[in-house]
Amino acid sequence: MGYENIRVEKRGRVALVTLNRPKALNALNSELIAELNAALALFDSDDKIGCVVLTGSEKAFAAGADIKEMSSLSFVEAYKTDFITSWDQVSRFRKPIVAAVAGYALGGGCELAMMCDFILAAENAKFGQPEITLGVMPGAGGTQRLTRFVGKSKAMEMCLTGRMMDAAEAERSGLVSRVVPLDELLEEAMRVAEKIADFSLPIAMMTKESVNRAYETTLAEGVRFERRVFHSMFATDDQTEGMNAFVEKRAPQFKNS
Ligand code: CAA
Repeated sequence: MGYENIRVEKRGRVALVTLNRPKALNALNSELIAELNAALALFDSDDKIGCVVLTGSEKAFAAGADIKEMSSLSFVEAYKTDFITSWDQVSRFRKPIVAAVAGYALGGGCELAMMCDFILAAENAKFGQPEITLGVMPGAGGTQRLTRFVGKSKAMEMCLTGRMMDAAEAERSGLVSRVVPLDELLEEAMRVAEKIADFSLPIAMMTKESVNRAYETTLAEGVRFERRVFHSMFATDDQTEGMNAFVEKRAPQFKNS
């Protein structure tokens, strides 16, 4: 499939998706989101892909929803088309997906990064939910996910003032897993993604599902869920292989089965 707003590249078992609307700082319009969803659907059904990296440019991961596209939207249109809901597909992607963020990740850009499994940030990254300056509020999960990442006080301040957070503050407050120099961001993200993709894919998927449960349920239910999924892993060939390889002092050869 030809894409106009993203670039897609497969490097071994890792798929690299680069948001590519440089004239609009990768603002997220409906075509871009449709292309991203289509690419993710292909990766989902491609057994050779074990992890995805989502990135933007050095200046902007994404500067938010496309303000020019949505400025004339009416309430009824927004409601009838269920505006923004199609973006959620990223958060429902079942394989691991890493956001590599340089430059601006604002509004929907910050929300898109938070839909990924974790965020690696370049030193120049800037995160923010500036929607209030436009007379709206975050609409792609920002009030919920940012609050879970950084806690109520900081999330409330960010959403109510629209101020940006730099990479160091984002790391301190748990929004990003690590900060790396700008010129190492992509290389590091690919290295991490390759490492994940070398493990057993079904085990990585179940691990992701279990960590995500922590956001959706109580501690007791979450631990019960984890225990059941953990037990089920003993039905996989990859558990046998992983543990036998350890005992036999050799590298495991996972078969994704
Ligand atoms: N939508 C549409 N176009 C955008 C855009 C956006 N979110 N962000 C930037 N652009 C466009 C600009 O209009 C400009 O286009 P023109 O050259 O045609 O005028 C181009 O990208 C470059 O932008 P700037 O000249 O503004 O670049 P800058 O370096 O001076 O500023 C910036 C960078 C601070 C990121 C600034 O562009 C900005 O504030 N952008 C808007 C950020 C924002 O408010 N995002 C939230 C959107 S609402 C949302 O996301 C809702 C939701 O929850 C889903």
